[in-house]
Amino acid sequence: MILFLIYLLIVPISIVQLILTLINKIKLLLPLNLPRLNKNYIFALIDSHIIHYPTPITLTYAWSFGSLAGICLVIQMLSGIFLAMHYTPNIDLAFNSVEYIMRDVKNGWLIRYIHANGASMFFIVVYSHICRGLYYGSYMEPRELLWCSGVIIFLLMMGTAFTGYVLPWGQMSFWEQL
Ligand code: HEM
Repeated sequence: MILFLIYLLIVPISIVQLILTLINKIKLLLPLNLPRLNKNYIFALIDSHIIHYPTPITLTYAWSFGSLAGICLVIQMLSGIFLAMHYTPNIDLAFNSVEYIMRDVKNGWLIRYIHANGASMFFIVVYSHICRGLYYGSYMEPRELLWCSGVIIFLLMMGTAFTGYVLPWGQMSFWEQL
């Protein structure tokens, strides 16, 4: 289980890092004074995002956590949709429907564990994202409203995770709610 948790966090990080490393390697092969590719719309788009993308020199990998949080959100939404296809929202049937997902639905156990552990990973990533913001002062002017929207997102996340945890209607989730 621990290995699975580590895997869930490592995979998206490795993919992002691999892509960034490849982009950097390609950039090293290019002549420094490469002209801007702005003749064609598609080339211009690629050029202005991958080759000549202006970024502050202070930008580090710590800024990857925002995109990672986005990837986590997509994983949670997709696995959640598949779980909802087999879950029954009824006091008498909910617990059994979760057991059904675990035992009888093909790969249902995997989808459920991806969703349940993915929620924890999502929080780890968002905590890192918040810590980055605190450490580098991203909450200060001119980004104070962006920070406030982040706080609202965080409150919504906690509410969503809480309601999700109650859904199986098992002993743990039931008593947690009381
Ligand atoms: C679902 C949750 C979230 C997602 C998907 C998300 C996504 C992003 C992305 C993609 C960026 C730009 C890249 C980066 O700087 O990492 C960003 C920046 C930022 N986020 Fe979030 N975020 C989330 C939650 C939060 C929370 C909870 C806060 C604070 C309470 C927050 C505050 C900020 C700030 C201040 C920036 C600007 C950082 C800077 O450029 O200095 N975000 N976010």
